[in-house]
Amino acid sequence: MTKTALVTGAAAGIGKACSQRLARDGIAVGVLDLNLAGCEEVVSGIEAAGGRAIALQASIADRGQVSAAVEKLRAAFGPVTILINNAGISNFIAFEDLVERDWEKMLEINVIGTFIVTQVVLPDMKAAGWGRVVNISSSSAQSGSLEQVHYAASKGAVISMTRSLAQALGPMGITVNNIPPGSIMNTIMSEANRSRFQISPAQLAQSLPVRRLGAPDDIASACAWLVSEDSGYVTGQTIGVNGGRVLS
Ligand SMILES: NC(=O)c1ccc[n+]([C@@H]2O[C@H](COP(=O)([O-])OP(=O)(O)OC[C@H]3O[C@@H](n4cnc5c(N)ncnc54)[C@H](O)[C@@H]3O)[C@@H](O)[C@H]2O)c1
Repeated sequence: MTKTALVTGAAAGIGKACSQRLARDGIAVGVLDLNLAGCEEVVSGIEAAGGRAIALQASIADRGQVSAAVEKLRAAFGPVTILINNAGISNFIAFEDLVERDWEKMLEINVIGTFIVTQVVLPDMKAAGWGRVVNISSSSAQSGSLEQVHYAASKGAVISMTRSLAQALGPMGITVNNIPPGSIMNTIMSEANRSRFQISPAQLAQSLPVRRLGAPDDIASACAWLVSEDSGYVTGQTIGVNGGRVLS
């Protein structure tokens, strides 16, 4: 039977690559983002390649918008048993300049948004007795990140949420894992961050054990495995996809 997935932050970058990959693997995909035009473009590409997808506009931090989007996805393709919590924001602010609103915004999207989407989708997984949740965290939560105290802390919360949810949802047949990406290029976020690198992309690549920078498809490949039947004995884990930037 065809499975249905929801991918958040799917109009660009890692979320777009995950949507395309899951669709290629025969999964019907809800392509959710703030950016509806971007979602529609991703859906057109998936359909042109023979896959099934629907564009959904919502902020993951707005429960009403998320519920309406998930309802649309269910109506189109049936119960949602795969969730890629990928949508997220980042910025750089020196610790001494951080104010409470910076924290609130970061936690509202990266942490509370992830919580809301997971809770809205959960009834479908529970009813099916089967589910896969993959949270996209960040290697900055593992290594620390200069001028990103609030961002790294929000992604640390995502890693921690993954572990607790794995315990809570495992008995329902649902696995919950997280991928902390590192040095993934050609996304809106990574391009915006590029000016912050102390070294050139070529030097960064040379500093990694695999000697290359990452691409959104590297994360999508790991997601494809984590949402498959093959990963059923894996839960609560942090699967680093970072070229060896962080070794655990
Ligand atoms: N690129 C990297 O190297 C890297 C490294 C570590 C972690 N990450 C994480 O990977 C995820 C994807 O990053 P990316 O590099 O593809 O970034 P990106 O900026 O290219 O894509 C993020 C997408 O999320 C969407 N989005 C933002 N806020 C949203 C909201 N409230 N509701 C719905 N959609 C929203 C944006 O519109 C955008 O399309 C993020 O969670 C990011 O923190 C990326």
